[in-house]
Amino acid sequence: MRFDIITVLPGLLESPFMHSILQRAQTKGLCEIVVHSLRDYADNKHRSVDDYPYGGGSGMVMQVEPFAKCIEKLQAERPYDEVIFMTPDGKTLNQSLANNLSTKGNLIILCGHYKGIDQRIRDIFVTCEISIGDYVLSGGELPAAVLVDAVARLLPGVLSDETSALSDSFQGGLLDAPIYTRPADWRGHKVPDVLLSGNEAAINRWRDEQALARTEARRPDLLDD
Ligand code: ADE
Repeated sequence: MRFDIITVLPGLLESPFMHSILQRAQTKGLCEIVVHSLRDYADNKHRSVDDYPYGGGSGMVMQVEPFAKCIEKLQAERPYDEVIFMTPDGKTLNQSLANNLSTKGNLIILCGHYKGIDQRIRDIFVTCEISIGDYVLSGGELPAAVLVDAVARLLPGVLSDETSALSDSFQGGLLDAPIYTRPADWRGHKVPDVLLSGNEAAINRWRDEQALARTEARRPDLLDD
């Protein structure tokens, strides 16, 4: 799977993909993450990619042409399944959307900045608009990193234990049960006996009960679905 991210701040996306699981996924050839600097597609010597909003108002608006040039260049090189725009007014990212995107081949992700992007980019090129939650960030770069992480870790072979993505919180519609590691007794705070029992059936039953109780307490809305 290939992710092409278009941004005015490519430096913001250097580190998130250079560590741990996402780095290994790229080294193993399971996914490719390519960051494009939007300014490389500006047609002026200042490399500016924004302008004042028509109709007045504060803030600058990202122009159509640089995005169009970059998207069209990429689309001439290979087919893309979606052109995604990260925006707080998009569809909220959840596990089911991440699962769905992980079945795709190539994705283009656009990061907005300033006041926003010219509506024509959204009308003409964008096929899917995604928010990472009901709050506003300074730009789409961190949301793009969140999206790529949520999707790439689901690709076959990315996680060493094939079952671990399946046992994530949300995958079965429930939050995760509590987890523990050594020591079994830390300053008098003990790990639940059942986890030390070696009785797999009892452990699984306990985990299911805990997952359900935690979901009821913290996210009852998940049980409505
Ligand atoms: N850009 C700014 N805020 C955002 C959010 N919450 N989700 C996606 N993109 C954004």
